[in-house]
Amino acid sequence: MEKNYIHSTETLGLESERHCDPCIVVIFGATGDLTRRKLMPALYNLYRNGFLAEGSIILGSSRTEYNDEQFREEMRKAIDEFGTDDEKNDPGWDDFAKVLFYISTDVRDSSAYGQLKQKIEEHERSGQSCGNRLFYFAMPPEFFDDIAINLSKVKLNNPANEDSWTRVIIEKPFGEDLESANHLNSLFLKLFSEKQIYRIDHYLGKETVQNLLAFRFGNSIFEPIWNRNYISNVQITAAETVGLENRADYYDRTGALRDMVQNHILQLLSLIAMEPPVNFEADIVRDEKVQVFRAIEPMSRNEIKENVIRGQYTEGVINGNNKASYANEKGVAPNSTTETYAAMKLLVRNWRWADVPFYIRTGKRLEKRLTDITLVFRRTPHLIFRKRGTDEHIANILSIRIQPDEGISFFINAKKPGAGMQLTPVEMDFNYSSTFHTRLSNAYERLLRDCLSGDQTLYSRKDAVEATWSIITPILNTWKEMGSENLYKYPSGSWGPEEANVLVKKDGKKWINY
Ligand code: BG6
Repeated sequence: MEKNYIHSTETLGLESERHCDPCIVVIFGATGDLTRRKLMPALYNLYRNGFLAEGSIILGSSRTEYNDEQFREEMRKAIDEFGTDDEKNDPGWDDFAKVLFYISTDVRDSSAYGQLKQKIEEHERSGQSCGNRLFYFAMPPEFFDDIAINLSKVKLNNPANEDSWTRVIIEKPFGEDLESANHLNSLFLKLFSEKQIYRIDHYLGKETVQNLLAFRFGNSIFEPIWNRNYISNVQITAAETVGLENRADYYDRTGALRDMVQNHILQLLSLIAMEPPVNFEADIVRDEKVQVFRAIEPMSRNEIKENVIRGQYTEGVINGNNKASYANEKGVAPNSTTETYAAMKLLVRNWRWADVPFYIRTGKRLEKRLTDITLVFRRTPHLIFRKRGTDEHIANILSIRIQPDEGISFFINAKKPGAGMQLTPVEMDFNYSSTFHTRLSNAYERLLRDCLSGDQTLYSRKDAVEATWSIITPILNTWKEMGSENLYKYPSGSWGPEEANVLVKKDGKKWINY
């Protein structure tokens, strides 16, 4: 019954309502890791599934001297390395390769942009991309200013004609603190309008993250209990087993707070905490999210010391493999104080969430890979089974698994069979793969598609970026002043430093580890 219902919504053609315009996608950083791992597989899938409109082309750009053919070969290798089996074996590659082109550009050299413009216009004259242009900034943030300014010098920041659009996708991190984010925002808003700017956070493209909205606002049973009256605390965990993955240069300057908390985790938090939007339009949804960020007051130095924990991994074992300590990773500065783990308690100071702690934690080289949002409900007001086998309150728990093993579990208490009244938590489980039997699309695929159809709902707006940096920047500043003080070490393969447990224990709570 349930399945029929699900399928009937698919056949209504809801998916096909989203129309992607034909376009030239220019990728700056076309030979980099992000393009190879994420963007090319995503674009290929859009093509395979018919979402890359006819007439679209992809113009890769980076400093490497390739011709079109060499670029196509490189991208083929990327699919072989990072694509799924379906992607690798799809005979459609040869056709897709025909829409891939390349131009070598030094993005810092303004004189290179005339040539880029020429190349774009040549393609536009011979193709059907209708003058629509998307520039993807798949490069480290230190290049963002130059690319934006240089595009504007040759007027590539403006739409080519009245009926076309020009958009830019900017990768995270958008700035490295509040000041630099403000600077970037004001620079970009001089050259582009907010409607043209797509600040990407790939977590928002994850199917399970979007399901959060469906879960909260597509069901009537949760809203009445989704507040301080019923929820004791909220826990958001983004645990990774990976370490630096050859990104020491970026990561050692960045750390877990900037890399994961300012963007991905705060975005998850906002979806849990936001008020119901009146509809699903981009600005309406984003208005509600930003209200959440505004309700989290930046912490004072003392509050930071009290409520925020940072850690750095040491050597240890994960899945039977020895792992080196962060300090000994290639490319990490001697005596680096970069945090590879961060945990904190945040308070969303509004009517719905007053006094409900939001505990968040993220780290590299932890025991397992798991991104999960857990809502711990308040205990029952009175324990009637005392003396009959149940002496303790066992909280109800709602666990929203973002990855892996995507799904939602609700833990309720049931009587253990047998004499007495011994209660035990049992799990009601919804699992994506067994329910839908379908491949979950890659987050970049979803987000690129949204951008090509002009939908900014899952992209961050200026005010949200600034509001999140306002929460994070005082912590960064305090840590900078503190040097290595309170930088707790934790062994690879653990759940992080013990101090993170103390953080929640102080409130009489505990982390729920699955
Ligand atoms: C990226 C971070 O944004 O997200 C990485 O820069 C991190 O350090 C990654 O590993 C995690 O993404 P996912 O989709 O694997 O959870």
